[in-house]
Amino acid sequence: MDDIEERIITSSIIEEDIGAEYSLRPQRLREYIGQPKIKEKLNIFIKAAISREEALDHVLLYGPPGLGKTTLANIIAKEMKGNLKITSGPAIERAGDLASILTSLSDYDVLFIDEIHRLSRNIEEILYPAMEDYALDIVIGKGASAKSIRLDLPKFTLIGATTRIGLLTAPLRDRFGVLSAMEYYTQDELKEIVIRSSDILKVEITDEAAVEIARRSRGTPRIANRLLKRVRDYCDVKGNGIIDLKIARLASELLEIDGEGFDRIDNKMLAAIIDNFNGGPVGIETLSYFIGEEIGTLEDVYEPYLIQKGFIIRTPRGRIASEKAYEHLNKPLKKSKVHKNLRQFTVFDDKDNEI
Ligand SMILES: Nc1ncnc2c1ncn2[C@@H]1O[C@H](COP(=O)(O)OP(=O)(O)O)[C@@H](O)[C@H]1O
Ligand SMILES: [Mg+2]
Repeated sequence: MDDIEERIITSSIIEEDIGAEYSLRPQRLREYIGQPKIKEKLNIFIKAAISREEALDHVLLYGPPGLGKTTLANIIAKEMKGNLKITSGPAIERAGDLASILTSLSDYDVLFIDEIHRLSRNIEEILYPAMEDYALDIVIGKGASAKSIRLDLPKFTLIGATTRIGLLTAPLRDRFGVLSAMEYYTQDELKEIVIRSSDILKVEITDEAAVEIARRSRGTPRIANRLLKRVRDYCDVKGNGIIDLKIARLASELLEIDGEGFDRIDNKMLAAIIDNFNGGPVGIETLSYFIGEEIGTLEDVYEPYLIQKGFIIRTPRGRIASEKAYEHLNKPLKKSKVHKNLRQFTVFDDKDNEI
C-alpha cells in the first residue's frame, strides 16, 4: 500500500499532476472529450437554465477516480458564467463551515463538493433546505428560548462527486436533479485526449504511439495524461524528440503496464483469485488481506475496470475470475469451473445492477 503514490496507474491525483492538470483540463463543454450522454444532457439543461435565468439543477457525478468529474464541475461553472467554489466532504467539519461557504455564494455560482459521501449527517441536513429552497436555517439561542431563522441563499448549483454512490444517503441522493454515471473512456476517446494533451505540452507524437498510450490507460484520462508525460520524459532522454510507437512501448513496459493497461495490482488480484481461491468466489476483504492493498482502493480503483472489461465477475458470494483472466495470465482453465461458478450465483455489473 505504501507505494501507491509511486505507481503510475493510481488514478488519484499525485504531486506531478497538479501543475499540468489545470492546463490539460478542457475549459468548455465542447472541448470535453467522451461521456457523450452526460455532455448531451448537460448541454440541454445548461441552455434551458440560462434562457430561464435560473440556476442549473444540482448535479451528482459518480464513478471511479480520474474520469473527469472535477473537470466537468469547472466546465459547468464556466458555462453558467458563475464562480466555482471547491470543497470536499471530509473538509467540512462543522455546520458553521458549510454555512459560511453557502452564504459566500452568488447567483449561478457552483459549489463543488468532492467525496460527498463523506459528509457527516448533521451537515447533510443543512444541505437539504439549501438545495431545495435556497434557504439556510439557523438556530439562535439555546433550550426553550432557541429560535430558528431562515436566511435566503442565492440560486446556486451544487455539484457532488463521489466514487461510492452506494454510500450516499437516499435523502441526499434524491435532492439532485441530474444524476450522471461517469463511464470509462473508449480507446478512440483516449487517443483524442492524448493527442490534445501532446499539443498542449508541445510534444510531437505519432498516431500509433497515441493509440498505444490510450490502450494502456485503463479507460482513464488521468492515467493517459500521466503516461504521456512519463513517455515524454523518456523520449527527451532516449529518443529523437518525437514520441513514436517504439518509445511508447518501451516506456510503458518500464512502468510495468501490460497490453491490457493492467499494472502489478490488477494482475496480482487476478492471480490471487485463480491461484489461492481456485477461481473464486472470494470476498473483497479476504482478497485485500491477501494482496496487501486497502479494500477501498481495490473497490474504487481496481475492481470496476476489471469487472467492466470482463476479467472479474461479481456475485453476492464474492469475486470470480473469468475465462479471460485465465487466458490473460496464461493459466490452465478447467472450463467447467467458471461455468459452474456462474450457474450458482447472481451476477452484478460494474454498477451493481443484477444481470
Ligand atoms: N473528457 C476529458 N477530456 C480531456 N481531458 C480530460 C477529460 N476528463 C478528464 N480529463 C483529464 O483527466 C484529468 C483528471 O480529471 P479529473 O476531472 O480531475 O477527474 P476526477 O475528478 O473524476 O478524479 C485532468 O487532468 C483532465 O485534464
Ligand atoms: Mg476530482
